[in-house]
Amino acid sequence: MLQNVTDIQQEVIDYNITDIVTLEEFRLLFLSKKGKVSLLFDQFKTVPAEQKKEFGQKLNDLKNLAIAKLTNAQADLLVSKTKIDIDFSLPGDSSQIGSRHPLSLVRNKINEIFNRIGFTISDGPEIEDDWHVFSALNFPADHPARDMQDTFFIEKNPDILLRTHTSSVQIRMMESQKPPIRALFPGRVFRNEAISARAHCIFHQVEGLYVDKNVSFADLKQTLLYFAKEMFGKDTQIRLRPSFFPFTEPSAEMDISCSICGGKGCNICKHSGWVEILGCGMVDPNVLEACGIDSKEFTGFAFGMGIERITMLKYQINDIRLFFENDVRFIKQFTSEA
Ligand code: PHE
Repeated sequence: MLQNVTDIQQEVIDYNITDIVTLEEFRLLFLSKKGKVSLLFDQFKTVPAEQKKEFGQKLNDLKNLAIAKLTNAQADLLVSKTKIDIDFSLPGDSSQIGSRHPLSLVRNKINEIFNRIGFTISDGPEIEDDWHVFSALNFPADHPARDMQDTFFIEKNPDILLRTHTSSVQIRMMESQKPPIRALFPGRVFRNEAISARAHCIFHQVEGLYVDKNVSFADLKQTLLYFAKEMFGKDTQIRLRPSFFPFTEPSAEMDISCSICGGKGCNICKHSGWVEILGCGMVDPNVLEACGIDSKEFTGFAFGMGIERITMLKYQINDIRLFFENDVRFIKQFTSEA
């Protein structure tokens, strides 16, 4: 019987545990209910009384030996498994750094420039009504901009439409707030235009509005000059050409000296040295009155520009469709920009 214990002890010592399969086999063979060690314990009652002490001692030693071997092997396997999974000598996976969309970059820059001179930022709904997009802005009933050709109407209801400009947010602000108002309105706008390299049916605008006592055309010009220099560089010059918008009087279109050729003449400025970047003017008294603002007490200026246009000029991008394709090869080129 004692010989039996010694044999099994040798077996335990010799057993080679190499992986989790042999580990489990070892446990079953020696330590499970029907395992060799447990069977020896069953035989304990048949051992003659005078041998019980010695036998019991040996049996306990054997059991402890087997348990120690099992737990040590378990710990070793855990360590070696971790070693295999994490090889610290392998080169690391480089993580992809995202970049802002160029339109977001330019919008943020425009916001930041006007923020510095006291303009707050507001947005309004993209689905609008006729009042906020046209009527309150002094558009005559038969104005072509209201036409199906230009405007996307919602469910054939001529009163509900996708805003064609963010001037609608100017109206919302003037209806809800008393002057002084100095605010910027960035947002997405929609026009029913054929998509080409130069036009898209969705694009982005930033409009601005300043209403207070004694706001003059000189304030408008100085504000826009400051913007042009901050956006395109301090040597940039501006010129204002008379124009027409139903909601401003007088109205103008603003050109900047071509930032590509510095005014000498190139393809971008069609050899004129100037490129148009925005529309502007003094808020028409009818618009102020439509919003409940006394046009004898207050005056204001407004301006509006397309973010795509500014971005195309700033980065010399020649196809507006690139902004909407989300091709990472295009977008990635702006990674280094703030
Ligand atoms: N709302 C005009 C447009 O969408 C831009 C503009 C805004 C012009 C404010 C003058 C004053 O084209």
